[in-house]
Parts: sequence; structure tokens; C-alpha cells
Amino acid sequence: MGSEKVSSSFVNETTLVLIKPGGVSRGLIGEVTRRVEARGLTISGMKLINAPRETVETHYAEHRERPFFKDVCDYLTSGPIVAMAVSGPNAIKAIRTMMGATNPIEATPGTVRGDLALTIDDNLTHSSDGEESAARELGLWFSEGMVK
Ligand code: CDP
Ligand code: MG
Repeated sequence: MGSEKVSSSFVNETTLVLIKPGGVSRGLIGEVTRRVEARGLTISGMKLINAPRETVETHYAEHRERPFFKDVCDYLTSGPIVAMAVSGPNAIKAIRTMMGATNPIEATPGTVRGDLALTIDDNLTHSSDGEESAARELGLWFSEGMVK
């Protein structure tokens, strides 16, 4: 009785997080990275950059036909951003959940967007939404690789 090991299922993953220009200009790099590290995740790549327009358009290629595509690309290139690779158990879902709903007004308090943002066009962060997008986005933003 009680000797069987309960299987805990997790996979070590790496995901991409962007702190958008509003987060950088508001001085929230520390707050976002603090939350990521406090959760137990590891920052395995990080840089502050003025993102090239082409990189942002490739990043958001799935939204190319959407009405907000130009605005979101304008916004992402309007000032420096932080690109981070974040690693750990179930990192993709852990980070998505921590960031909260796309529209901050719908985001649960306790999430980054629910605590620190108010509008969808200035929702502070990006995070990969699945394994495929994480691999694609990490290759795009960290073509030089991450810290192992
Ligand atoms: O960032 P997330 O994956 O939660 O949302 P998305 O649906 O992939 O949309 C990408 C980004 O486009 C959002 O984070 C918003 O900044 C922006 N967006 C917008 O401005 N208006 C919308 N109606 C939808 C998205
Ligand atoms: Mg998305």
C-alpha cells in the first residue's frame, strides 16, 4: 500500500518569451524575469534588441492576414524588446498560463497580463503557444543557440 510510485508526467521544454516594448519602457524586465525565475524556470537565453521588422513579420506570420498584423508589427519594432529562452518542466504551458489571456482585461489576476497590463495592443509579453511554435520561434530569435 502506497509503495507504487505515482507517475508524474512532465517534459523538459524550452519556450520563447518576448517582453514587448511597453514592458521594457515601463521598467518591467525585472518583474517579468523575477516571476519566471521564482516559478522555478531557467532563463537559458536572453537579449535586449531592436527587433528587425523582417524578424517580427516572420514571427507573426500566422497573423499576416489579420487586421491587427501591421499594428502589432509596428508596435514590436517601436522600441527595444527582450527576447528570452525559458527552460524547465512543461515550460511552454507553464509560461502561457503565467502570462494570461491575450486580452489583459480577460486575464486572471496573478498572471503577468492580469496584474500588469490593460489593453490587447499593449499586453506586455509574447510566449510560444505549443511545441512547434516554440521550436520555430527559438530558431528565429536565437539562431546562435542558447546556453545549455
Ligand atoms: O500573444 P498571444 O499568443 O496571446 O495572442 P495572438 O492571438 O497570437 O496574437 C498576437 C498578438 O497580436 C497579441 O499578443 C496582441 O498583441 C496582438 N493582437 C491584437 O492587437 N489584437 C487582436 N485582436 C489580437 C491580437
Ligand atoms: Mg500567439
